[in-house]
Amino acid sequence: MQKSLSLLSLSLLLVACGGGEKDDPIINPTPNPDVPSNPSNPSNPSNPESTLGLYHEQYRPQIHYTPAKNWVNDPNGMVYVDGVWHLFYQYNPYGNDWGNMSWGHATTKDLIHWTEQEVALKRDELGDIFSGSAVVDKDNTAGFGANAVVALYTSAGEHQQQSLAYSTDGAMHFTTYEGNPIIPNTTRGDFRDPKVFWYEPTQQWVMSLALGWSCGIEFWTSRDLRTWKYASTFETDIVRCHNCQWECPDLIQLPINTVGADGQLVPTGDSKWVLIVNVNPGGPTAGSGIMCFVGEFDGETFTPDALDYPMWMDFGMDNYAGVTWSNNPDGRKILLGWMNNWLYSGAVPCSPWRSAFTLPRELSLVDIEGKPYIANHVVKEIETIANSWSESTNASSLTIAPAQGQSLNAYQLQITLPRNENCTFSISNEKGEKLEFSTNTIYNTLSAKRTSATGATVSSFSTPSVNAKMLGKEPTITLDIYVDQSSVEVFSADGTLTMTNLVFPSTIYNQLTAPASATGIRYRTLESIWK
Ligand code: FRU
Repeated sequence: MQKSLSLLSLSLLLVACGGGEKDDPIINPTPNPDVPSNPSNPSNPSNPESTLGLYHEQYRPQIHYTPAKNWVNDPNGMVYVDGVWHLFYQYNPYGNDWGNMSWGHATTKDLIHWTEQEVALKRDELGDIFSGSAVVDKDNTAGFGANAVVALYTSAGEHQQQSLAYSTDGAMHFTTYEGNPIIPNTTRGDFRDPKVFWYEPTQQWVMSLALGWSCGIEFWTSRDLRTWKYASTFETDIVRCHNCQWECPDLIQLPINTVGADGQLVPTGDSKWVLIVNVNPGGPTAGSGIMCFVGEFDGETFTPDALDYPMWMDFGMDNYAGVTWSNNPDGRKILLGWMNNWLYSGAVPCSPWRSAFTLPRELSLVDIEGKPYIANHVVKEIETIANSWSESTNASSLTIAPAQGQSLNAYQLQITLPRNENCTFSISNEKGEKLEFSTNTIYNTLSAKRTSATGATVSSFSTPSVNAKMLGKEPTITLDIYVDQSSVEVFSADGTLTMTNLVFPSTIYNQLTAPASATGIRYRTLESIWK
């Protein structure tokens, strides 16, 4: 199988990380009989309800979506249709390493409880099915029927070209368009990950496309989703682009909020365009990361405002390829990321699946001292699995107790720290495996250190500490920490501080050790989504 330069580099990186053996499906077309076909069918052996132990293996996330088995990376084609949130994703139906790229599929009605569905798109004569997006074509602009769901993705064969598939049954089954590729390419290396939205003022579809190692985003426009016209390229020197590639873009309009006297977010009535660019390597600490630009868009060209760049969606090591759902009810902009990092993705010790997605996050902009910052909040639907809060305490040591009659699946921990003091705290388990946090009053940062976080050895995992800026000037800062079997996600500072890190403790951390100055310590257990 011939590959472009960038994918060759990706492959080499994966092989260097101990993963990434790729089975070419042309050479090895035999489907794995164990691959789930319809997990909601009780007779299917991969149905989580019918298979003892599945979904409760060591490290298996209990509040994050994972497929029953096999490799995943980027979320793709996320679209809301008739009360159902669809998540497609880069998936290897035949193994636990990157390869045979297809679109896996899962659905949810509440963004929390997921059902794995049949693989939606598989490699064809144009190549692997790389990342892309899906839209609902309400007005039948493409001619596949009113409300057809149209998926746009990169066909990765000898070259990266853009292709289309459509569904007339609400995104459950797709037909590949016979006119593919809709944007041919025979010359360029990196040209991928189409993200499409409808731009009302010009009555056109707009596609963002990533240029990989050339560090640019192209915008294309269309009236019918089939024929596309080049509009502009966004390239900039306001962020460093040296030895890094740009992937998986998303252009969205977000409301701007301010922080009210009671700490609640108050809409200002204004909004801005945000261009999300996933960069790898070149992330906030090392490897992969999600960068944002805030500015204006006129239907053809994106112009960034002069702000503090790089602006990160998440300061942790493990949130990549993050993009938003399309066609959401009530205009919510909800982002999901792949909870991993290309630096070591092939080496994370999960089996028979490999990799999860972050908790879904609602995005907004928050105005702090006259400047807009990207803010993430865990979607309100998390309440569907939340038990009641423990009593608030100032104790310097706290054991997280499971809900009665259960083992500890996952929990949300809250802790408030003074801003005028350097604080350290950690979450740990009986084996002494711990994720250590510290704050620094000079740099105004929260740092996490994974040096002792993990029982298993994961190559390239013990990176230097991961630092996040703590914006705002209130005398204290409250952290909301979502702890699952193999991840810790921190949210704070009105959503402007988000830090997602993978961890692989032998058993879930169940102990908090806090400084004497910490207050308002409490937790609530979160029910497993797999029961
Ligand atoms: C990002 C990415 C995309 C590509 C896909 C291939 O993680 O490299 O640019 O479409 O993964 O799996």
